[in-house]
Amino acid sequence: MLSNSVSFRRTNGGVGAFVENVDLSEPLSPELVNTLKSGLGEHGVLFFRDQDIDADAHQAFAECLGNIDINRFFKPVDGYPKIAEVRKEPDQKYAIGEDWHTDHSYDQIPALGSILLARELPSRGGDTMFSNMYAAYEALSDGLKEVLDGLQANHSSRHRFGYQSTANKNSKDTGGRLGNPDLATQDAVHPVVITHPISGKKALYVNRAFTLGFVGWTEAESKALLDLLYNHASQPEFTYRFEWEPGSVAMWDNRATWHKALNDYHGERRLMHRITLEGEALYA
Ligand code: SIN
Repeated sequence: MLSNSVSFRRTNGGVGAFVENVDLSEPLSPELVNTLKSGLGEHGVLFFRDQDIDADAHQAFAECLGNIDINRFFKPVDGYPKIAEVRKEPDQKYAIGEDWHTDHSYDQIPALGSILLARELPSRGGDTMFSNMYAAYEALSDGLKEVLDGLQANHSSRHRFGYQSTANKNSKDTGGRLGNPDLATQDAVHPVVITHPISGKKALYVNRAFTLGFVGWTEAESKALLDLLYNHASQPEFTYRFEWEPGSVAMWDNRATWHKALNDYHGERRLMHRITLEGEALYA
């Protein structure tokens, strides 16, 4: 398919664009792949509707964009070790990804982004929220930007996926969805404000799920400023709420956005398949 037929239609929220005239089940030309990559860098999240893709096509699409970064904590799809299941069963209370986060910020080389597709949706609810970290950064005062521009933050997976995490303590509720707590050891330090590797724009790079605090600051000092940033960056004007339909795909850039799964469909199943793409080291 030629990239000149593709178009991006911005959402009516603070982040993301719908991609039109793309069939992800077809092989994608290098030109089209480049168009999608720059669209991702620009809009932060790309949404596709009415796609009919099986697990092989999902994986082939991801591999056109880069190498796959296998999530070591999520259960993989049977027969597809590179595709992670994001599952919640009717008797489970906890949903994977229900706090604002960027995937894998606890890794020294954090993921570029993820491609999530809907396999089984509840009758209502189960939307995903996204927030724009370019716009959130841009809207800060020059004084606060100056403070943040010089800071680095510690990120970790231990408290989320390690033995001490609530999810793993309550293994009945996680119901085999998460595993490998012994691999929740890698911590990482990243700049608090990064220069996005594709767009060259500045983006805020801390998130509620995985950021522990600022390097050289006490826990209390870090908490006060992080809470301010989290409240700021989750304001409605920076966000978009994506309503899933059968055949919907969302592809986000972790360096430009946050996301969070809304856990408002208790008693019903929601099953998504996620492939995460390898990223690169991040710089201020
Ligand atoms: C995730 O956090 O990767 C999953 C988001 C979702 O299930 O909507």
